[in-house]
Amino acid sequence: MLDRQYLVISLFYAVAGLLMGIYMAAAKNHSLLVVHAHMMLLGFVVSFIYAVIYKTWLPRTSGSLAITQFCLHQVSALVMISGLFMLYAQIMPEPIVGPVLGVSSIGVLLGMLLMVVMVLKEKSVRAADYIVS
Ligand code: HEM
Ligand code: HEM
Repeated sequence: MLDRQYLVISLFYAVAGLLMGIYMAAAKNHSLLVVHAHMMLLGFVVSFIYAVIYKTWLPRTSGSLAITQFCLHQVSALVMISGLFMLYAQIMPEPIVGPVLGVSSIGVLLGMLLMVVMVLKEKSVRAADYIVS
């Protein structure tokens, strides 16, 4: 259900992260390395993996649990990556950004745990395992 939304958002993170990487390389200024790394890995790669999980194993999953998982991951990842940018671009000091990073990273973790719950609940995953064994 949400595979396309995850895919589109992941590709936007890829474009933004690659632009940042090219800027870092061209400017010979790697101070935004942590922001670039998490844009590429948390923004692009993790969202892309969620898109693949939805497409492959959760094709019929919809409803409030799925929407909660999607919103929780996307809001938390966006807040975390924006917070990292504020911190490493020295726009905001650590005492202010730190708690925001803490809360948003717990949101990312909860999003992953909700994905675990949905995968374990999905009957087709269990059926597929049954066929293989
Ligand atoms: C146009 C392509 C890219 C450019 C120009 C670029 C540029 C850079 C630069 C300049 C650094 C800092 C290196 C350092 O100071 O040690 C870096 C680090 C990093 N990049 Fe990229 N990058 C690109 C693509 C990617 C992609 C596709 C990924 C992952 C999907 C990625 C993940 C990372 C990670 C994880 C680090 C941190 C590595 C570390 O901890 O030392 N980058 N990149
Ligand atoms: C809850 C989410 C996450 C938190 C709180 C977190 C936290 C951190 C921290 C504190 C660092 C060290 C930064 C520094 O050098 O000062 C780091 C680095 C790194 N993280 Fe994460 N991370 C998260 C998610 C991820 C994910 C999902 C990936 C990969 C799929 C990832 C890949 C990396 C890599 C490759 C580095 C080394 C590159 C760098 O120095 O930035 N992280 N992370």
